[in-house]
Amino acid sequence: MVVTAQRNPGGEGVDGGVGVTALMVAAARALETHRDDSLAQDVYAEHFVRASSVSAGWPVRPQQVPDGDANPLWGRFARYFGLRTRVLDDFLLRSVSEGVRQVVLLGAGLDSRAFRLDWPAGCVVFEVEREGVLAFKHAVLSALTATPTAAARVPVPVDLRADWAGALTDAGFDATRPTAWLAEGLLFYLPRAVETRLIGTVDRLSTGGSALAFEVKIEKDLREYRDSPLYTSTREQIGIDLLHLFDGEPRPDSAGDLADRGWSASVHTPFDFTRRHGRGPLPEGNDALEGNRWVFADKPPV
Ligand SMILES: C[S@@+](CC[C@H](N)C(=O)[O-])C[C@H]1O[C@@H](n2cnc3c(N)ncnc32)[C@H](O)[C@@H]1O
Repeated sequence: MVVTAQRNPGGEGVDGGVGVTALMVAAARALETHRDDSLAQDVYAEHFVRASSVSAGWPVRPQQVPDGDANPLWGRFARYFGLRTRVLDDFLLRSVSEGVRQVVLLGAGLDSRAFRLDWPAGCVVFEVEREGVLAFKHAVLSALTATPTAAARVPVPVDLRADWAGALTDAGFDATRPTAWLAEGLLFYLPRAVETRLIGTVDRLSTGGSALAFEVKIEKDLREYRDSPLYTSTREQIGIDLLHLFDGEPRPDSAGDLADRGWSASVHTPFDFTRRHGRGPLPEGNDALEGNRWVFADKPPV
């Protein structure tokens, strides 16, 4: 099955603009799934990649990458996404083990956690994402007759630049219940003011005992890494110019913002987790991952 999500040069689906990055991450998850030393399992990922005419020719098995881990995109960068998937799987599972029963995936893309994680009874997973991406995801998962492992999976088709809090609430989100929020691979695509508003909205919708994990880039000027192996290979191998898709404004200090709002926040490099798991990318020269940080924030219980 090949689905053309939405022929929209503005990139509302997965076949253009920022939506195509969801396919790139899906391909990385497919590769990770089939590694002998896999850190995360996502059996749905390869189906998304195969289903779009944009990505149907991309590798989904390690054997399909002739230069293997030496390939900057399908080796090191894919491993980065595999590690990130595992670490954020662990974050969500830890949150629900502590009693949270409401999960919100912001910019959910082709994240299949609602279908593949071992959720406790009564757990609801909201997926906030643009309509075209969710339509493609729905088409692929329906063809597979995939069933959520969460008690409920609720797609919330909305642009995060719009009133997404209203859409989320209308979809059944309950701000009186502790929530685990996730913004994976998202914030650097959003204008600075949108990120700042998003953090404020998450705070406003979070009761004590809620948690948020998100990824930021702290470089002052991302263009310094324009000729890095990761960005170069992503441009040359699959035609995605990440620097063009990232928002160019200086980034806000969202971890500091949350701390000012009374959350406790810890900031890690991805390499911290590579060392913890004994697998994943390590620092190298001219490294587009150098400024990446994974932030884990908790709102104290009331
Ligand atoms: C790199 S993908 C990450 C997807 C998913 N979080 C994951 O890690 O697999 C970035 C996602 O952010 C979404 N996104 C970017 N800007 C958005 C916006 N303004 N509103 C909603 N989603 C947005 C894109 O559609 C895309 O699915």
